Amino acid sequence: MSEPSVVVLTGAGISAESGLPTFRDKDGLWEGQRVEDVACPEAFARDPERVQRFYNLRRAALDTVEPNAAHQALARLQQAWPGRVTLITQNVDDLHERAGSTEVIHMHGELRKALCTHCGNRMIWLDDLHGSTLCPACGRRRGLRPDIVWFGEIPYHMERIDEAVGAAGIFTAIGTSGLVYPASGLVHLAKSAGARTLEINNTQTQVSGCFDRHLIGPATVQVPRWVEELIG
Ligand code: OAD
Repeated sequence: MSEPSVVVLTGAGISAESGLPTFRDKDGLWEGQRVEDVACPEAFARDPERVQRFYNLRRAALDTVEPNAAHQALARLQQAWPGRVTLITQNVDDLHERAGSTEVIHMHGELRKALCTHCGNRMIWLDDLHGSTLCPACGRRRGLRPDIVWFGEIPYHMERIDEAVGAAGIFTAIGTSGLVYPASGLVHLAKSAGARTLEINNTQTQVSGCFDRHLIGPATVQVPRWVEELIG
């Protein structure tokens, strides 16, 4: 019999020990900042420079951090598992890729990409963005925005995600509070497909009850432990 498909969903908690703040923990990104001021299309229309500043700071912060043992363990799992491993992340950082993961599904977009609202082109973008920045594809100004899925927008790659989760034998959610839909609903889809479900988090979450099994503790400890259990 072939090995079961593994689907891993990661959230901000997996990058916390690399030094990137989560959203909803104490000192998280949403503390002292209203989501609707920086993370929705209306905010960008109202005050684009404020939104660009928020993401410019976060993009620049990527230069100061490195992947941790949890990202590295998942890259090992992708290389060593004889079956299919699908890595879905809500994170907009690139720490999975820098740890060696090759196929990463970024359902909420990527900080190091820009999207032109004039011509629809997506491109790698490593510098700050401003209203005056020229789109290299269409040559127009005031169109480039971070390629991030904001509240009120539809997450990327949902068809691919639903297909993978619907065929999962093992579904593991790591470092996510499970409060943002549709990522939070994937555990139900996995269960209805017959998957064994595992939550790895440093604490209980509001959705812990939806999972069969829990590993509680820092991702840098619990993720390598779980990966060793699977691949030996
Ligand atoms: P949250 O900030 O909501 O949740 C982070 C989770 O990680 C919490 O459950 C923490 O307990 C856990 N955690 C923190 N440090 C950890 C560690 N060292 N080891 C293990 N677990 C740890 O972040 P997300 O669930 O990723 O969307 O948030 C989901 C989405 O909400 C984000 O993608 C973002 C945000 O609004 C957009 O910006 C579109």
